[in-house]
Amino acid sequence: MKVKIERLDDFGRGIAFVNNKICFVSGVIPGEVVEIEITNEKRNYCEAKLIEIYTKSKYRCVGCKYSELCGGCSLDHINLEYENNYKLDKVNNIIKKFSKIKYNVTDIYSLNAMNYRNKIVLHGDKGKLGLYNSNSHNIVEIDECLLVSNKINNIIKKLNKLDNKNIEEILIRVSNDEKKSLIDIKGKVNYKNYLGLSDILIVNDEVISKNDSIITSIGDVKYYVSSKSFFQINLELTKKLYDEIKKNVIKLKPKNILDLYCGTGSIGIYVCNGLDIDLVGIDNNPSNISDAFRNLELNKMKGNFILGDVSKNINLINDYDLVIVDPPRSGLDKKTINSLISSNVKNVIYVSCDPITLVRDLDLLSYKYNINSIKLFNMFPRTYHCESITVLERR
Ligand SMILES: C[S@@+](CC[C@H](N)C(=O)[O-])C[C@H]1O[C@@H](n2cnc3c(N)ncnc32)[C@H](O)[C@@H]1O
Repeated sequence: MKVKIERLDDFGRGIAFVNNKICFVSGVIPGEVVEIEITNEKRNYCEAKLIEIYTKSKYRCVGCKYSELCGGCSLDHINLEYENNYKLDKVNNIIKKFSKIKYNVTDIYSLNAMNYRNKIVLHGDKGKLGLYNSNSHNIVEIDECLLVSNKINNIIKKLNKLDNKNIEEILIRVSNDEKKSLIDIKGKVNYKNYLGLSDILIVNDEVISKNDSIITSIGDVKYYVSSKSFFQINLELTKKLYDEIKKNVIKLKPKNILDLYCGTGSIGIYVCNGLDIDLVGIDNNPSNISDAFRNLELNKMKGNFILGDVSKNINLINDYDLVIVDPPRSGLDKKTINSLISSNVKNVIYVSCDPITLVRDLDLLSYKYNINSIKLFNMFPRTYHCESITVLERR
């Protein structure tokens, strides 16, 4: 069946109409006329697969050879300029659709669309090692991934030459300069087979190498990153994001900062480095907090980190001029939002990786806070995900 693609949905799927019914097609671009085959028909919508492109968009680019099998990169076939505009439109549409906020986002920062990730997790099953297909746990064996750094791709190629039948999962992480690497394996494997592949080797939680973490940098700030710690995956753009936060911190001149969902202390340490600001961070992952203390020392700084749930420690906020929040995709919980609304906190900087929960939370916070700025950072090119910073000021 021949259809015209009208637009992309928030997950990067093309939308066409078949007998007045919405039809989702992956791997297409608005304006393209394509041949599709319906694969799933429901009462209100249908799904179809792309068979042939009759009119090709000028924004189409050559994608990854595993794209159809893997499905992890829903915008793999679209060039970066179009992708950035799509992400701006998407966030502005979410703001209009789900909130009373009057704000039009115009800025999106982006760098490389390839080789930007410093981490990958491969899964093993019945002798196969690779990525999960995005809709199932079927393993797609790969010899490279366009998103990850060249050093990770080299490690993947070396791994593929080994007998990996007992690997259940393997995490590979590299430092920003690609000089250091870490491998963490789960499964009934002989660790000796994996010696020499990386600087740090961990097998079933046992540290085989001398050290347990790599040191990576963002600008002049250095960080220990352990296997179980959270760390941003696109460090070049993270520097831009952290510079933007620091620019605002310098402008707002807080005496103290509370860094909620602080991970390894990365934002707080970066923005307070070289400034006379008291820093406290909260995170519920013990590995993050242990790295955060080591990171203070590594950068010869003072501060404090609390291991615990943000909502259980939220009573602290009234002691702070500036609260930075960087929650997981689920956004802020009700208690944290209500505490911010009824607090004395002058400024909040909200770092978000999910525009839908961001807009939900901003709508509630706008009861007491004005939005000074919202800026997007295309931290995850080729995928529909998008990072942002919102600077809020109490009325
Ligand atoms: C998006 S990461 C941000 C980390 C850090 N700000 C950074 O830039 O690297 C979210 C962090 O929130 C932490 N987290 C998730 N839920 C939490 C909760 N309820 N209380 C405290 N920390 C939480 C996770 O451990 C993770 O480190």
